[in-house]
Order: sequence, then structure tokens, then C-alpha cells
Amino acid sequence: MKNIILTGDRPTGNLHLGHYIGSLQKRIELQNEGNYDKYYIMIADTQALTDNADRVDKVKNNIIQVAIDYISAGIDPTKVNIFIQSMVSELHEFTGYFMNLVTLSRLQRNPTIKEEIKQRGFETSLPIGFINYPVSQASDILAFGTTIAPVGGDQLPMFEQAREIYHSFNNTYQPKEEVFVLPKAIVSENKAFQRLPGLDGKLKMSKSAGNSIYLCDDSETVKEKVMKAYTDANHIKVTDPGQIEGNVVFTYLDAFCKEHHFAEFLPEYKNLQELKDHYTRGGLGDVKVKKFLINVLEDFLKPIRERRAKCLEHIDDIYNMLFENSRLASLDAKARLEKMKDAMGINYKNLLSK
Ligand code: TRP
Repeated sequence: MKNIILTGDRPTGNLHLGHYIGSLQKRIELQNEGNYDKYYIMIADTQALTDNADRVDKVKNNIIQVAIDYISAGIDPTKVNIFIQSMVSELHEFTGYFMNLVTLSRLQRNPTIKEEIKQRGFETSLPIGFINYPVSQASDILAFGTTIAPVGGDQLPMFEQAREIYHSFNNTYQPKEEVFVLPKAIVSENKAFQRLPGLDGKLKMSKSAGNSIYLCDDSETVKEKVMKAYTDANHIKVTDPGQIEGNVVFTYLDAFCKEHHFAEFLPEYKNLQELKDHYTRGGLGDVKVKKFLINVLEDFLKPIRERRAKCLEHIDDIYNMLFENSRLASLDAKARLEKMKDAMGINYKNLLSK
């Protein structure tokens, strides 16, 4: 069996550290291992429009932003096909047929959708396109024969839905040859990293909550944000014992700090455990830990910023790359679409007696 990797993001804003730890890091690792036949990353503008119908400009402008975020984070466009969802119109056709295999009540039970409906105040005015997006996402996944998808933890219900559609399609149409492939999502083993907390310590890091550090943030912004980050409300005096659990500064250190950072920036400690132990005992102030985190994040963001600056000089090239990749992705989707129609018995040209 072929190994096909596919994943994606909605272009509604720049990518942040939560995206990086939740899935970008894994995507880059998979890319560098090179153990795949095809690797796609979709910029999901069609999906973004399901709750931004009247904000086309926002979605449009963020396509290039997300593409630049990918490349600056380390996705290599010569190894990975980064494409634009709406330019692969075949996906709508898959969705049209898959919609008949899913009930409305099933979509209403999707936990990610449930939460998003609440967040967006869609309870009484739910766009059909929005409640349907898990079906559309199943098309994204199944159309390319995806075997594995490195995604954030909130995407697991979408993969469950895609797997159900896979089974439902096979049960309904009993294809003689397999049309689709059963996809598998891979998420970070570390639960905290599946949904990296935001700077406020309450919600996951997200654009809408305004609690994010972005891959494109400059040094000054990162510094300001970290200095305001939530630590432990009961850690008032330096001598007070502090809590690690729920302390976002330590969660970010867990995610980004490497052993060599201690030698470089905080040589009094050998490793993160020593730092945590001191904090727990008392006698270690938040500011010191925050300053260390700022250094760690700067070390991580520096090469990303450098690649970003290069990308900004080649915007047209990046657009042309996206357009060409979308054309190629469209050809791949088209081939499977024909297979699907054959299996369903709706390729009417087969009725001709030749
Ligand atoms: N739902 C994903 C997000 O919110 C974006 C997405 C669309 C996606 N289609 C996909 C992810 C297919 C993985 C596979 O970011």
C-alpha cells in the first residue's frame, strides 16, 4: 500500500506555537524521514469560508500567510505539495455524494463542531456549510487516498467521521476494487501539546481567543507576551512554593526547551527538572523563568524569521507554486473521483454499447 500523507489548516490567521507543537513539528519530522509516496498540505480556504462567508478578504489574504508560515517553519515545497483547497473543485463532488451517507444528528454529535458552534454563537443560525464541514473534510482526506494525517487533537472527530464515511461507502456500494483508503490521524502523544494552552492559561492557544504567540511575532512582541503569561496565581512572593501544573510558562518550556538551552541561557541549572524542583520548593521567581523562556523561544523563532524574510521577497513564486500544486492535486482527485463514480454505478458513459 502506498503511504500518502495529507493534512491542512484553515487560512484565517497566521500559525502560532500551538499549531507548531500540535502538528507542524510532526509534519516536518515526517517530511524529513521521507517515508511517503505523496505528501500534501492543504490550505483549507473552502472550509474557512464555512464560518467566514462575508469575510472573503480575510481568508484570501491569509492563504499566502499560511503558505509562508509553512515554509518558514521548515516545510520544504519541493518535497510537499502545498495546495489551495478551493482550486481542487473535485472535492465538492465527493462531498455531494458523501452527504447522503451521513445524518444530521451524527454531525450534531461531533464534539469539535459542538464546541465551535458555541464559540461562534451559531446555536440559532447555523450555516449548513458549517455543520457539513466534517463531511467536506472527509472528502479532503479520502479523495487523495490519505493513509496518515499529522493533525492537532481537535481534528480527531473529523477523522472518525471520515472513517465512518469510508465504511458507509463500502457497505452501500460494495466496490469490487477498493476506491478509498482507511485514513489514520496521528497526534502528539503528549496531551498538553495536542492543545497547547494559550497565554491566559484558560483556553487552548487560538487566534480567536487572542492568547497566542505567532511564528511571525517579532522579538519585542514575544517578550511582551511572555511577560504577561499566566503562571500560578498563588505564587506571589519569590519564596512561595510554586505550582508547575497549569503553569503555561512551564508547559511552553516542556514543549520548546532543549538541554543545551541551560548551558547557554541558565547555567545554574542542569535541566528542566532541576528548574521545576526549585520552583516547586519556592525561592524561584516567575520573572527569571519567563526570561529563560523568552531566550528559548527566540532561539526557536530566529531561523523561522530568517526564512520568512526570504519568502517575502518571493511572493509571486510562492503563489505560482500553489497554483501549479493545486492543478496537480486536482488531477489526483479527479482520478479517484472517476473510480468512485464507477463503484457507485453513476459513470453513465459506461452505458454506451461502445
Ligand atoms: N479542519 C482543519 C483545521 O481546522 C483543516 C483541514 C481541512 C484539514 N481539511 C483537512 C486537516 C484535511 C487535515 C486533513 O485546521
